[in-house]
Amino acid sequence: MNYHLAPSILSADFSHLGSDILAVSEAGADYLHIDVMDGMFVPSISLGLPVIKTIRPVSDITFDVHLMIEQPERYIEEFAAAGADIITVHAEATHHLDRVLQQIHKTGCKAAVALNPATPLSALDYVLDQCDMVLLMTVNPGFGGQKYIPQMTDKIRTLRNMIEEKGLNIDIEVDGGINDGTIRTVLEAGANVCVAGSAVFGKDDIQSHVVKYLDVMKEFS
Ligand code: DX5
Ligand code: ZN
Repeated sequence: MNYHLAPSILSADFSHLGSDILAVSEAGADYLHIDVMDGMFVPSISLGLPVIKTIRPVSDITFDVHLMIEQPERYIEEFAAAGADIITVHAEATHHLDRVLQQIHKTGCKAAVALNPATPLSALDYVLDQCDMVLLMTVNPGFGGQKYIPQMTDKIRTLRNMIEEKGLNIDIEVDGGINDGTIRTVLEAGANVCVAGSAVFGKDDIQSHVVKYLDVMKEFS
């Protein structure tokens, strides 16, 4: 299994976003987590297509685009054209999850489904084999800097078992409250892609935090 650290730019200082992206990439992070919020699916509005297009030339780091927007099927092709490599949609945000996963694959991007903390894993029953990755929200989506919800550890473990029982090769990304106190717990439970917003971009020395989390992930790979 490959492990990836995905620093989330939601906690970045946007006045020097380009150099901070280069910093995380040079420190060894190979994913950049980009949170798109529409003020409907979640209360906040974050950033959108023009920002993604602007930062695309900065680095060839994998753009891991997390769409927290209603009816994401309206924008898949545009996010792919803007530079997304992985597009994640919420199961709760669309009536047509199967169709939107096909739509994502047609653009050449990897496809992932995100589940809010209260959404059961059964939402994945008929789409799991179409997912390259499943994103388990470990906080309620909408804001950085929240506390990890401990009940999610069991959800991660159950999902990893489901994936293994079916003989599939699917990444599990965890998003929300990942820091020094929680990273080992989620990795032990079976996550292999860790989003870290406030624990990386929220810090003064971004690179040392990237290196620290990558070292922890190495213990598991
Ligand atoms: C929250 C976002 C997260 C956020 C995580 O809705 O999806 O990606 O940036 O922030 P931290 O790591 O600070 O919990
Ligand atoms: Zn996210």
